[in-house]
Amino acid sequence: MRKLQSQGVHHITIVGADRQTSIDFWEGVLGMPFVFEQPNLDRPSESHLYFDPGDGRLITVFTNDEREADSRRTPTDPGCVHHIAFAVSKASFDQAVERLDERGITHSGVKDRGFMDSIYFRDPLGQLFELASFRFEPPAGRTHAEVLLAAHHVRVARGDYNIQEEHLADAIEAMIREGRGSLSGNRAPQDPYGKSKAGKGKQRVMGKASGSAAKKRPAKGKAKVSP
Ligand SMILES: [Fe+2]
Repeated sequence: MRKLQSQGVHHITIVGADRQTSIDFWEGVLGMPFVFEQPNLDRPSESHLYFDPGDGRLITVFTNDEREADSRRTPTDPGCVHHIAFAVSKASFDQAVERLDERGITHSGVKDRGFMDSIYFRDPLGQLFELASFRFEPPAGRTHAEVLLAAHHVRVARGDYNIQEEHLADAIEAMIREGRGSLSGNRAPQDPYGKSKAGKGKQRVMGKASGSAAKKRPAKGKAKVSP
């Protein structure tokens, strides 16, 4: 028995209604360029529209101008698609509520997912979509999925209920410490200001850190910091 190894999402295909409704939603609402069209090669009565979701991959839609859009929620039975999420930058995400409201599109409001912010709304055909904005950047050369895997292990080890930004930050720190070399013999947190209130016992040191992390110098008194 052997696997059929996936290497990424190639495309997702949706059953559309009329052609123009699909173009107006995918390009006119979500900004996805309409890049390709040909007949549905398995059903000549339908057209097959292709949109670029922004990463060069493909969202495709079967359309037929004899079908009308029905905005009732699509089925959520086992095996059906619940929702599809698209990535947006924080700048765009922060505009989402206002821009959905401008269009009169009912939405969920901003949802805190711990590692991302999300907002949900339906397309004119009743399919639920999500706009998602990560709260973290992976280390160079690493993926969001790799950070999530590392952060999951951090969360579980700490007995926390769901993912939080602290898990992500510590996972990213560990990935860089473990994946990137350094000339330092001691890569534990240090306090060059000599002001740390955190005692050794309170520090959450991950990995093989030595106990000399908290060298302290005398504080020089409080000074205002100017940008
Ligand atoms: Fe989602």
